[in-house]
Amino acid sequence: MTDLQRQRLLVTRTLPQASQARLDKGFKDVDIVQWKEDCAIPRSEFLKMAKGADGILCLLTDNIDAEVLNAAGPQLKVVSTMSVGYDHVNVPELESRNIALGITPGVLTEATADTTVLLVLAAARRMRESMDAVTHGKWGAWSPTWLLGSQLTDKTVGIVGLGRIGVAVAKRLKAFGVQKFLYQGTRRKEESEKTIGGEIEFVAMERLLKESDVICVCCALNDKTKNMFNYSAFSKMKGSVVFVNTARGGIVDQDGLIRALKEGKLGSVGLDVTVPEPLPKDSELLSFSNCIVLPHIGSATLETRTAMSEIAIENVLSGMKRERLPFPHDA
Ligand code: GLV
Repeated sequence: MTDLQRQRLLVTRTLPQASQARLDKGFKDVDIVQWKEDCAIPRSEFLKMAKGADGILCLLTDNIDAEVLNAAGPQLKVVSTMSVGYDHVNVPELESRNIALGITPGVLTEATADTTVLLVLAAARRMRESMDAVTHGKWGAWSPTWLLGSQLTDKTVGIVGLGRIGVAVAKRLKAFGVQKFLYQGTRRKEESEKTIGGEIEFVAMERLLKESDVICVCCALNDKTKNMFNYSAFSKMKGSVVFVNTARGGIVDQDGLIRALKEGKLGSVGLDVTVPEPLPKDSELLSFSNCIVLPHIGSATLETRTAMSEIAIENVLSGMKRERLPFPHDA
């Protein structure tokens, strides 16, 4: 006889230690199935393992579309992604089936803002060329003219997307002596302007591109922002610009970026996100000494990843009970 009380939870990856220990201990009336290999769950396995799931705890590497939902079946109640971004989830499909979607907002703001600042400084101060010089025996006597970068003092910084992360980036960069912030997004955000303080202005994109010494991409990927930074946008930037993207690779038209880099139109670039991920090691993007690429580590601190996985667990457990999620995607 089947036990009508029992629910099935699919977890698509091994979680950070503390959260994994909770899973290993188990939850009352929940059967857990989990992909534990050290790689993203292959699509065919995902479709097989999703069958009969009441809840799915997934990652940003898992594409949640109609095929997965069909494979799971009509009992599926909740998808909980261990990420703040949910561009990998087909939200209308979930809504039409009354499946809740949980995300992990707030807890990764600080770590991701730290990574953004890390890339701004690393790109502006020519970190890649400097490290290469040391490891390749090109370090000569101290020179007044060698490896000169730029600094943030008195500069104008453009932030695209003044959400939680955008605000946290601006607050950090302000401490480096930035003179003025320009920002772009869906609307003016007076509260955020006050939190950041000092000179800050909501401006048209054209002006942000033209006047910013540093541009940080901190917005979500959606239909409006996809390929927003194309060759034409790069051509409008200052030739010395420091361009940093820690949001999603799809916001940048990578061919346009490569062309702009080839033509020497950009000062330096720092990316934590690309298309695809992982970026193949023969990608032309890796051939520019003024372009630093990190492997999507924005939120990768033990503290943050643990907080994210704990929220993802709470979301999925609530959703399986048909309770309101602590962190729904529209929170
Ligand atoms: C990371 O990129 C996230 O969306 O959480």
